Formats: sequence, C-alpha cells, structure tokens
Amino acid sequence: MGRRPPHFTVVADADTLATAAAERLMALIDNASDRLAVCLTGGSSPMRLYALMASEPYRNALPWSRIHWFWGDDRFVPHDDPRSNFGAARRLLLDRVPVPAGNIHPIAVNAASVEEGARQYEAELRAFYGADRLDPRRPLFDVVLMGVGADGHTASLFPGRAELEERERWVVGVAEAGLEPFVPRVTLTFPTLASTREMLFIVSGSDKREVLARVRSGADLPATRAYAEGDLVWLVDRDAAPEHRDVA
Ligand code: 6PG
Repeated sequence: MGRRPPHFTVVADADTLATAAAERLMALIDNASDRLAVCLTGGSSPMRLYALMASEPYRNALPWSRIHWFWGDDRFVPHDDPRSNFGAARRLLLDRVPVPAGNIHPIAVNAASVEEGARQYEAELRAFYGADRLDPRRPLFDVVLMGVGADGHTASLFPGRAELEERERWVVGVAEAGLEPFVPRVTLTFPTLASTREMLFIVSGSDKREVLARVRSGADLPATRAYAEGDLVWLVDRDAAPEHRDVA
C-alpha cells in the first residue's frame, strides 16, 4: 500500500486554525488506548494551539497522565532562552496543566555537543519505543506537529543539507542552522518524524504565502519531503493560502 497524499485544509484565521488542530488532537487521543506520544514543534505557528490546550475545555478533557511529550527539534540553547522550543511549550502549555514530570521528554540541550545531544535523545526515543528499529505498523508517535519556514525547512531539516538523506539515525545534530535563529540544533530525521499516526503541519500568516505556494506546486523542499506512515495533514489559514476559497 502506497503512502497517502497530503490533505490540505484551509481555515479562516489563526484562532480557527488552533481550534481545528486541538480538535484533531482530541479525536486522535479519543481513538487511542493506553499511552500516547505527541511530538511538538517550534516556531510561531503552534503557539496559539499550545495556549489553547492549556485552557478549557481542553485542559479538563485531555488525559494528561497518559500523554508523553516530545520535540521534533530544538535549538541548542538553555531552556529559559527565548529561542528554546521546549521553553515555549513549557511556558504556554506544560507549566499550566497537570502533566507528570516523567511524561516530558525534552531534547538534551545541556549535552557536550549537538551530536551528543542527538545520541542521548535517540536513546531516549528507542527506550520509549521499546525497540531499535521503527516498525511502520507500530508508529512511535500518535501526532507529530510540524511547521514550515520561509525557505521550506521543517523541524531543523534545512534545504540542501546532508541530514535530509539520513535514513538510519533517529536524531541528528545540526551544527549550523540555515535560517534564523542561527544557533545549532538537534532534529529528528524524516523516518523518525514519519513514524506517526498523524503528521499535522500548522501554517499561519501571510509571510507563509510564498512558501506554501511552492509546497502546493510540489517543489522539492524539506517540508514536501516529509511523509508519514499514517495521515499527512496540512492545516493552513487564509492569510497563508489566500487563493483558496474552500474555507472550513
Ligand atoms: C524551529 C522549528 C521550525 C519551525 C519553522 C516555522 O525550531 O525552527 O521547529 O521547523 O516550525 O521554522 O516557524 P515559524 O512558524 O516561526 O515560521
């Protein structure tokens, strides 16, 4: 069976986008038994979603003790640095909800190097998964949130870089970012990000129009190379996709 093509949904604005994303998360969680794994992203687009999940009705509805939180990438900066992806999710979401500390799995940004941080995170993911090989029939994650940068990067997978071709490592160090903020990164690789029941891109704002048009035309960009063993969904708002009339 081939991989399903991406499904694009355009919604009215950034608030509707956050609500639509939260509803998708709720539906996935309702359909899952036992333990769940959610992989968060950095960047500005998911911030409303994080704040929304920390407010009612989601705060009360989400089974916090069953959900484990991971990151698709992070900047190699301390957690209290404003550029930290972990720090942003903690501030807006995790500090505000009853999540057990053991369910939070940040990327090790205090490791000696990005390579060492990547090795540590890979070991943590393997231990959580319980195997050294990802089985497409048993995805690592339930949901992987993704964003897209103006240059088409996603997670910390930048255009033209060797990391795009990585098929063995689950996590890699990125010594030099291709776009601001220019700090070293640690990122999951495509096969690891793909190991999910749903990959959900969240794209908001007029500064994403140009790159989104390139994505829609099938340009070879990291964001268009991303795939999922499960569903691949792009949720975008009208500012990012003004030519679309099929607003949900
Ligand atoms: C990162 C992100 C990255 C992000 C895009 C979009 O750490 O930089 O994970 O992949 O999702 O750069 O970010 P914006 O929404 O801020 O444009």
